[in-house]
Amino acid sequence: MKMTLDQKCALLSGKSVFQTREYKNLGIPSIWLSDGPHGLRKQAGASDHLGLNPSVEATCFPTAATIANSWDETLGEKVGEALGEETATLGVNVLLGPGLNMKRNPLCGRNFEYFSEDPYLAGKMAAAYIRGIQKNGVAACPKHFAVNNQETRRMASDSIVDERTLREIYLTGFEIAVKEGNPKCIMSSYNLINGTYANENEHLLSEILRKEWGFKGTVVTDWGGSNDHALGVKAGSTLEMPAPGGDSARELIAAVKSGKIEESDIDARVNELLSLIFSTSKAVKEATKNAVLKDGELNLPDDIKKKHHDLAYHAAAESMTLLKNNNGILPLKRNTKVAIIGDFAKNPRYQGAGSSMVNTTALDNLLDCMEKSSVEVVGYAKGFDRLGQPDDVAVKEARELAKCAEITILCLGLDEVQESEGLDRQMMKLRQNQISLLKALHRDGRKIVVVLSAGSSIETQWKSYCDAILYACLSGQAGARAVADALTGVINPSGKLAETWIEKYEDTPSLHHFAGKKRTVEYREGIYIGYRYYQKADVTTAFPFGYGLSYTTFKYSDIDVEADSVSFTVTNTGSILGKEISQLYISAPGKMVFAPKRELKGFAKTSLKPGESKRVTIPLDDKAFRYWNVKTNRWEQEEGVYKISVGRSSEDIVLSDEITLKGTTDKKPYDMRKLPHYESGDVQNVGKDEFVKLLGHEIPDGKPDISRNMTLGEMNHARSPLGWLIWAILTGMLNRSLKKGSPDLNLLFQLNMPLRGLAKMTSGMISMGMVDGIVLELRGFWFVGIIKVLVEFVKNIIQNRRLEKRLYNYK
Ligand code: BGC
Repeated sequence: MKMTLDQKCALLSGKSVFQTREYKNLGIPSIWLSDGPHGLRKQAGASDHLGLNPSVEATCFPTAATIANSWDETLGEKVGEALGEETATLGVNVLLGPGLNMKRNPLCGRNFEYFSEDPYLAGKMAAAYIRGIQKNGVAACPKHFAVNNQETRRMASDSIVDERTLREIYLTGFEIAVKEGNPKCIMSSYNLINGTYANENEHLLSEILRKEWGFKGTVVTDWGGSNDHALGVKAGSTLEMPAPGGDSARELIAAVKSGKIEESDIDARVNELLSLIFSTSKAVKEATKNAVLKDGELNLPDDIKKKHHDLAYHAAAESMTLLKNNNGILPLKRNTKVAIIGDFAKNPRYQGAGSSMVNTTALDNLLDCMEKSSVEVVGYAKGFDRLGQPDDVAVKEARELAKCAEITILCLGLDEVQESEGLDRQMMKLRQNQISLLKALHRDGRKIVVVLSAGSSIETQWKSYCDAILYACLSGQAGARAVADALTGVINPSGKLAETWIEKYEDTPSLHHFAGKKRTVEYREGIYIGYRYYQKADVTTAFPFGYGLSYTTFKYSDIDVEADSVSFTVTNTGSILGKEISQLYISAPGKMVFAPKRELKGFAKTSLKPGESKRVTIPLDDKAFRYWNVKTNRWEQEEGVYKISVGRSSEDIVLSDEITLKGTTDKKPYDMRKLPHYESGDVQNVGKDEFVKLLGHEIPDGKPDISRNMTLGEMNHARSPLGWLIWAILTGMLNRSLKKGSPDLNLLFQLNMPLRGLAKMTSGMISMGMVDGIVLELRGFWFVGIIKVLVEFVKNIIQNRRLEKRLYNYK
């Protein structure tokens, strides 16, 4: 049976927060899409996209930021496979993850959900997850495509970025994920890129994603991220989520009728969605047979829970990163008397807040795990208030307890409020009360091992007050046992940082252009994010990208560079088994185009017994020598001598060689004399004119206008007392929640939401016509505005009913 235009258009938007429409008479079932990157969040009851309502129990694996520290693609694939198994078993077709946005700035509130500051590492890990997830017949949905690197004004910010930076930094990870992972879905991001919403950006979705990379799957909007659905469909965006109601379908029908888009655009999108629906439904139906029914809901059976809890442990164990270990204080010797101090030891920080929040099947804590280990635990003290309130009694107790032990295990970290979707971090420091406690214990002469739970990098000016630091990141529901095992030497930590840890926030290259007051976010630092900047500008870091210690030592020898690979030998020179992450960096000649000092182009993780040597080969792929030339508008290779380096980290290069290559074009992309800061790397100080030269176009002014796209948080700029009042109430409520230390995520979302979100996220209750009435009201035409809202309200009800009838053939 053929679908009508109405049916096709209506299929391209959700029927509820996490489900698509079904047409039973046409044999088209509804499918489920659920978060998220490190565990399934299926909300069988009340649904929301902020993780506020409860969800079905699922395994909470370590977050992407954690597993990235393992640099282990095989592990990523295994975790992906387990995620996919839970997804299918619980009746979900699309898992909304992995997240692979670049960590442009350490304060981005969602960094814990992302892999790295390096696109190569992020892309490889994401591709591995995708392959694993999709082995189960369900779909992965890498997100958020693209250039989505802050939470402030997240639905309305405009990322101003030059084409080379876009390609080399912000898209390369997605390119690898798409080409090597072959995802059935991808999620477009909320933000605009150079003035056009990502979801309706032809350059991004049509030219790059679909034509260049050959992506044939479904593009799903982020929740409420569709601006003009017709333009989205034309540009290559398939499914608008969550549930915009009949208005969204009518918008498409009208666009076809007016010639704004072709019916063939609709057909192409419908075909993509149908192939997603049909290619996943059978596997899901089969897998749900393994689920356990409780109160009519699908639940995971115990064997899957157990198997995946063990895998969550293994994943955390592979990701433990040792940052400091003075005099070999770790691993702790058998029967050592230890004091366990810090709230996080009992109430673990193991995942972040927001849409990725998983309702765990089990949860380990460090105190219990240490009590079961080979050391003698003399006691536990909370030590500090996790939200930063002074607590002298807790400090006193902690100091007393530490006296009875040989070594103090001090669990520090960021709390739930500091790392959340919808909110960027306010500071890069630990809360002062934690640092004060560390200093007090140090003054008392204690030997201190710090265990850090934090989903992104923090300042560590306090590091000289402790003897060792084990970075657990946000290690999932079984992470505590991995920490205990790393401390006691049951495992040998092998993680290395997937993100640079700087000495102080002021060192970050995007310091002056992150989460500011304007809508536009100028990516003035260009290609120099993370280590690419710190190395080029000679900024000393606390712990460099790729850094991590082991309880054993490794020696490197015999580098051999071929046209398509680099080989070398790694030897375990210590006395216990260990795993070494070797990193391949390449330095471009940098004569014709400015370039970072070196860039990651490959890596390998090798397990070695004491005394054992292995020959490691890392392939040189198509990313090894390329740069994006803005004149020829394609990838080119610069002529000259390339330095090939193998390192323990980005700063600790142990082997190197050279290779000379021919160039692929004479066309110089830039007049380098006009871009002195990019040449020198001093990109914190790029002026507006120089940035405009790099961009090749003017910067939009970024001022809010009174339109469908004004956010609720900008209504103080409206010309209506009603707008001011709503703004004052919402911001007042938010400020109160911030002061209390528990920011209201819902309010934050609303304040960052453009007015059009009212029509996109209310399941058809509010139409775009009503939003236009509100806009009139905000422009000062309050009477006309209110009348329009009322008229459109009635119109919407009538039109919704008519559409439903046409869709489902009601008599
Ligand atoms: C987030 C997405 C998430 C979606 C659905 C949005 O707010 O940005 O990452 O997948 O909600 O919950």
